[in-house]
Order: sequence, then C-alpha cells, then structure tokens
Amino acid sequence: MTKFANKTVLITGAANGLGRKMALEIGRQGAHAILWDIDAKGLEKVASELSSIGAKATHYCCDLSSKDEIYDCARKVQNTSGTPDIIINNAGIVSGKSFLELSDEKIEKTILVNTLAPIWLVKFFLPEMMARKSGHIVNISSAAGTIGVAGLADYCASKFGIFGFHESLRNELKKKKIPIQTTVVCPYYINTGMFEGVKTRFPWILPILEENKVVQKILLAIQKNRPCLMMPWIVYAVMPLRILPVGMFDWIARFLGIHTGMEEFHGR
Ligand SMILES: NC(=O)c1ccc[n+]([C@@H]2O[C@H](COP(=O)([O-])OP(=O)(O)OC[C@H]3O[C@@H](n4cnc5c(N)ncnc54)[C@H](OP(=O)(O)O)[C@@H]3O)[C@@H](O)[C@H]2O)c1
Repeated sequence: MTKFANKTVLITGAANGLGRKMALEIGRQGAHAILWDIDAKGLEKVASELSSIGAKATHYCCDLSSKDEIYDCARKVQNTSGTPDIIINNAGIVSGKSFLELSDEKIEKTILVNTLAPIWLVKFFLPEMMARKSGHIVNISSAAGTIGVAGLADYCASKFGIFGFHESLRNELKKKKIPIQTTVVCPYYINTGMFEGVKTRFPWILPILEENKVVQKILLAIQKNRPCLMMPWIVYAVMPLRILPVGMFDWIARFLGIHTGMEEFHGR
C-alpha cells in the first residue's frame, strides 16, 4: 500500500476539476503537491488552499501543449524538489465537435495536451525513477480511451493514444523487472464541468460520475498500486465485448446511448 505522506506528487491540470481535488486530498494526507496548470490564478488559489491546511505545495504555470515549457518546468522541479515519487498526468481538454467541424489547430492541441504532454513528462522523469527503482506513474485516460464515441474523434484518438502508451510502458517496465508502479484511469463522464451538457441514456448502469467519489477511487487505486481503474464497472465490459462482430458491438453501444450522449454537449 503506497502512502501519500512525505511523498512528492506532481499533478497536471491541478487548478480545476479532478486535479484540484486530488491535490487537496493528497496535501491533506501529508504529501508535497507539485501543481502544474495553464490557469495561473486557479493554481495560486489551490496552492494557497493547500498552505492554509498546512500542506506543502509548489506551483508552476505550464502550457502542456508546448514541449519546451514542459521540459523547462520539469527541469525546475528536478532542481528544486528532485524527481517526484508520483506523477499524475491528469490535465486534459475536449473540443466536443464532430470530426469535420474541428479545426486542424484544435485536433493538434488535443493530441498535444492529452497524449504527448504525459509522454514528455514521463520521458523526462523516468530515468531517475528507474535509477532509484521506485516511483508511480498515473495516466488519466477515459472510457473514451476504450471505445470510439461519435462527436469525440480527436478526444478518443488522444485517450486511446495515452492508454496504448501506458500499456506499453507498463509492460516494458515489467519486462525489465523495474519496480515502478503504473495506474491508468478510464472514467465515464464526471460532473466536473468539462463535459457539461452530455446526456446518458441509462443512468443506472452509466451514471454521470460524481467528482469527489472519482477522486477517492483514483487515490485509493494509486495507494493500492492498482494497474487499471475503470468507472463505472460496465466500462470493464468494453474490452471483452470486442470479441463480438463489429456491427453487433456498435449496435450495443448505440443502444446504450454512447453515440448520442454528446449531442447536447456545450462544455464550460
Ligand atoms: N470530466 C469528465 O467527464 C472526464 C471523463 C473522463 C476522463 N476525464 C479526464 O480527466 C482529466 C481531468 O478532467 P477534469 O474534468 O478535471 O478537467 P477540467 O476540470 O477541465 O480540468 C483540467 C485542467 O487542465 C488544465 N489545462 C487545460 N489545458 C491545459 C494546458 N494546455 N496546459 C496545462 N493545463 C491545461 C485546465 O485549465 P483551464 O481550465 O484553464 O483550461 C484545467 O485546470 C482529463 O484528462 C480528462 O480528459 C474527464
């Protein structure tokens, strides 16, 4: 069981939503929270919330769509606090438009923030984690990283991408017998505001998840070194259902309302 007390935990997208709540909770549990976000004001607010409860926090304003900014901030973290014990790649963005409505810039940005940023961050810190034979890498993918959803083409591409990266990394580490823990998280929609307006057809099996409960489950999964967390339970069924012919698989998803859920999406 991993404890957060006295650990250094780097969280991206820490100014709002899941990132903010995870930062506050791990701070409460005695970790040094290293907060990254593009939202400078939000970051300062979370950092002062953390210091008001006596937790140690350091924050860096970083645009995760820029590899140079990522490496620059990572170097600052390494020089001031050393390599983090735990990295939570949480920041993410969504456009919520059908494929041909998306500008090239939007598609590129989604891949940069949701897929490439976590990869650069891991690439920077992994050698030191490997040298000291400890560490934990957490990637927040999505249920949309397990099934392609109408209206989320760029987002699904980015979340399948990070899921695939994570799985490869996990197996490379295992193959080399390096004891670094990994956790990939695939939640359905959560009420953080990021997906405001989405609809779910059968809330009893596919509920819009509650932010605080999701945060608790993610932190517990990290503490228990769980390799994968999907929420709600039915998301685990996506992979085995792929044994079905594609037409049948797509029919089940349509029946569950997966491909109409984004029709009233408006975001924040
Ligand atoms: N909410 C859901 O329904 C849901 C479902 C499944 C998976 N997820 C995933 O869970 C993670 C957290 O989601 P959330 O709902 O907590 O999102 P959120 O409330 O929108 O928070 C994301 C944070 O990331 C920041 N961010 C955006 N672009 C950035 C950039 N270029 N550089 C640095 N920071 C940036 C945002 O800043 P600004 O606010 O200034 O943009 C925001 O503070 C994401 O990876 C998301 O894809 C969410």
